[in-house]
Amino acid sequence: MTQKFLWGVATSSYQIEGAVDEDGRTPSIWDTFCATPGAVSGGDTGAVACDHYHRMPQDVALMKELGVDVYRFSLAWPRIQPDGRGPGNPAGIAFYDRLVDELLEAGILPWITLYHWDLPQALEDAGGWPARDTAHRFADYAAIAYDALGDRVSQWTTMNEPWCSAMLGYVHGQHAPGRKDVRAGMAAVHHLLLGHGLATQVIRDRADAAGRADGLEVGITLNLSHKIPASDAPADLAAARWDDGMSNRLYLDPLLRGAYPEDIAGKLAELGCPLPVRDGDLEVIGQPVDVLGVNYYTSRVVRAAPAGDNGWPASTSVARDVERTAMDWEVTPEALTDLLLRLDSDYPGTTWYITENGAAYPDVADENGYVDDADRERYLRAHIDAALAARAQGVDLRGYFAWSLMDNFEWAYGYDRRFGIVRVDYETQERVPKRSARYYAERIAAEKGAR
Ligand code: NOJ
Repeated sequence: MTQKFLWGVATSSYQIEGAVDEDGRTPSIWDTFCATPGAVSGGDTGAVACDHYHRMPQDVALMKELGVDVYRFSLAWPRIQPDGRGPGNPAGIAFYDRLVDELLEAGILPWITLYHWDLPQALEDAGGWPARDTAHRFADYAAIAYDALGDRVSQWTTMNEPWCSAMLGYVHGQHAPGRKDVRAGMAAVHHLLLGHGLATQVIRDRADAAGRADGLEVGITLNLSHKIPASDAPADLAAARWDDGMSNRLYLDPLLRGAYPEDIAGKLAELGCPLPVRDGDLEVIGQPVDVLGVNYYTSRVVRAAPAGDNGWPASTSVARDVERTAMDWEVTPEALTDLLLRLDSDYPGTTWYITENGAAYPDVADENGYVDDADRERYLRAHIDAALAARAQGVDLRGYFAWSLMDNFEWAYGYDRRFGIVRVDYETQERVPKRSARYYAERIAAEKGAR
């Protein structure tokens, strides 16, 4: 295979930066959520996190030591455009200017995610993602970000895991803004996707106008999980199809086929939670993407359960006799190969990246802060093998990003779950590469040597 394959690490702004009230940044929905009693484990917040805002050059140096080609990070919208509308904030933008320059200096490709969940609180106050206007605000923010950084950055991801924003944020209340309203959640799904489409247009138009369209890669990242029916019984098959529909097809189909899946959209309307689609929206959402990012962690065996009083299809997970991570997620690398093959066959012609893959384990550090995480090394090896197996079978997979460069704020779990290949001591902010970091660096070197 001749296509280039990129090796990277990923992070996101609220999970690592800290410095939440510096240089004009305003609160995001995550600052507000963290301040809500009981919302986040241990009352943890992103106020300091990994203090990356002040330690960025050191963190870039770490990446250089690992030998990665590319670094996927997100911009904090409330730093770039504090009110969520109106002009950009030069002091906030300056941080990303320095980060991009530092990366380029280190020979690392910057890959920007525009939205990794830190919506300016001002926009939530105005209705948040259930409000259509937020999609337009997002496009304006994308324009400010592209104008500031587009001269040096060609890789742009609009949204990270819109399923999480809509479902965990507005339906289940487990993520910011902590709402529990299914109708609002379904409106959020549509407006997140619309925001993706509008931002994509803005970036392409600006790149064209500046003569930078060559090499531009714009796309979106979805959390996708392989759904396996518990049996061939029609009820189990239907339950798995519904789960796949709500988790995967509801996003993939409008993005890559230009239409919502009829079974899902029809049922949502019947349940009184319609997708608020207006004329022309699906053309905007379904315009071609250069990249479809896949965040993969686990898979699920689905068994049908009796529908609840509310009429929603229900299912349970069948536990398998496999290893589990500290998130209690089953370790199923072979399902990653199956997922990629299925994606390639259902959505042919798409270019895929694994934009996140990794695991939390109950790390124990020795007196030097070193973690001998054979479990995480095993997880990474198996999943990289699984991804490359799909590529060997013809899937146009162009890269793999380990989640995460370093331990960080794991949302509702706070600092309690560690996904880093580099350990962070939150008392001293010392960074110590774990055994898995050494493995990843060696694997990258070996894969490059083999090419
Ligand atoms: C996906 C999210 O994008 C990231 O923010 C999170 O930390 C990881 N999954 C692990 O849960």
